[in-house]
Amino acid sequence: MTADFLVIGAGIAGLSFALRAARHGSVIVLTKGGAYESNTAWAQGGIASVLVPGERDAGDTEEFHVADTLDAGAGLCKETAVRTIIHGGASTIEDLLSYGVSFDRKHDHFLLGKEGGHSHRRILHAKDTTGLEVARALIETARKTPNLTLLENHYVIDLITSAHLGAVAEDRVLGAYVLDTRTGEVEIFRSDRVVLAAGGCGKVYLYTTNPDSATGDGVALGWRAGASIANMEFLQFHPTCFYNPGATGPEARSFLVSEAVRGEGGVLINGKGEDFTKKSDARGSLAPRDIVARAIDREIKRTGAPCVYLDVTRQPKGFMKERFPYIYETLLKFGIDCETQPIPVVPAAHYQCGGVLTDVNGKTTIDGLFAVGEVACTGLHGANRLASNSLLEANVIARRALDEMIRVYPPGRVILNPPAIAEWEHGDTAVPDELVVIYHNWDEIRRLMWDYVSIVRTDNRLRRAAARLKNLKKEVREFYWGHRVNPDILELRNLVTVAGLIVECALRRKESRGLHYTLDHPEAKESYQSDTVLRRF
Ligand code: SIN
Repeated sequence: MTADFLVIGAGIAGLSFALRAARHGSVIVLTKGGAYESNTAWAQGGIASVLVPGERDAGDTEEFHVADTLDAGAGLCKETAVRTIIHGGASTIEDLLSYGVSFDRKHDHFLLGKEGGHSHRRILHAKDTTGLEVARALIETARKTPNLTLLENHYVIDLITSAHLGAVAEDRVLGAYVLDTRTGEVEIFRSDRVVLAAGGCGKVYLYTTNPDSATGDGVALGWRAGASIANMEFLQFHPTCFYNPGATGPEARSFLVSEAVRGEGGVLINGKGEDFTKKSDARGSLAPRDIVARAIDREIKRTGAPCVYLDVTRQPKGFMKERFPYIYETLLKFGIDCETQPIPVVPAAHYQCGGVLTDVNGKTTIDGLFAVGEVACTGLHGANRLASNSLLEANVIARRALDEMIRVYPPGRVILNPPAIAEWEHGDTAVPDELVVIYHNWDEIRRLMWDYVSIVRTDNRLRRAAARLKNLKKEVREFYWGHRVNPDILELRNLVTVAGLIVECALRRKESRGLHYTLDHPEAKESYQSDTVLRRF
């Protein structure tokens, strides 16, 4: 298969890129599962954007949005990226409206929500399932777009680059080896314009708000291809994942209670009904996420309780059902009537702020390879992402990436002497009873990351995690090379790679900043006010 543009991932980043790219050439979008299995589709909150006067909160400006983003990012945001992305807000909303996304309005004006760290109301939303609405509109449009082929059940095993084929003078992307998960066959997809848009890595942790598909595939692909990776220590924990100890099934285990609920007056309390977050920050429950998640972690450790509570019982009757119908109904299904009972919550892994290092056009360190969305580290989030900035970033950078690609690698350009790419060789067929190794290792990685590399870290715990991961990596590598590839092996291989990158970055940062907090170095240090960059070659 050959395409002018090859896109890996079908969330807002991949599809925003693909829908525009299809105006310039052939596009193939690959996703390992179904089209709706993305972090985008699970996003509840919305899209932060300061629109024209009349459609913005009184007194709000782009400057305030910039200042809030920089403040949350704890000194590590790249201001140019922040300004560029925030300035792209109005055109992002226009772009999404053009695909048929419907945001909540009242009397013809957008309704604006508020979330932690935002000084003003500026979150456009579709009730509490904004991501699903965005995904619906983009997927439906993609399915009708000529020149665009959306292939579900296609799992990218590895990128193919000229360096891997032995070229020494250049490093450019040439395509990918892709497993068709229904037939088990591996095909070569050729393209010299490839976009990584495969999302984040919440499943590296035992508890996460992410769907099962969030196994760090994009970062692992980028890393193995030789792209630089940055800031993986900044893994954001969402403060309010529904605590449901008897849960079975992904919805019950990973159910997010949107930060927008706190934006509408929800307050975090402990078992005695005390609003403990005010001790950490005057903004209380609406402080940036790193601060709130740490306050909860501290409170849980101090009291020995298994969770804290989000109290929305003071809202007028019917409010939750009207504004947050999905959250209201889902909680009811799990036995919590949030109009009369506080909601038990705990922090859980939510968003990867680092990723494949890019410039503000999504360009990586490999020619022709771009990264967009959660998989990328553009400099917007710094050490801690401001809520609802990510759908915005994905769309703005997708549009910029296309412009840049067309400028530097115009479709129709002929690659001289395109190198031959070897067909995929299958190893021996797996002995089924050995598959237990996969499930055991998967579980071990997620548990050790939760125990040693979560909200509060120490050098000792990080070293312990690194040592254990080294062994696990070896086991997984042997297993991978000795068996026929399948999605479980591929996810495990990516998971162990990404866990290793998180630990490596965390070990290098001997300070506390934003989402990286370590008891051994509890202060921020000027000498560490820069990205943690990992280079493979
Ligand atoms: C939420 O709804 O709380 C999530 C929003 C985000 O992570 O940006």
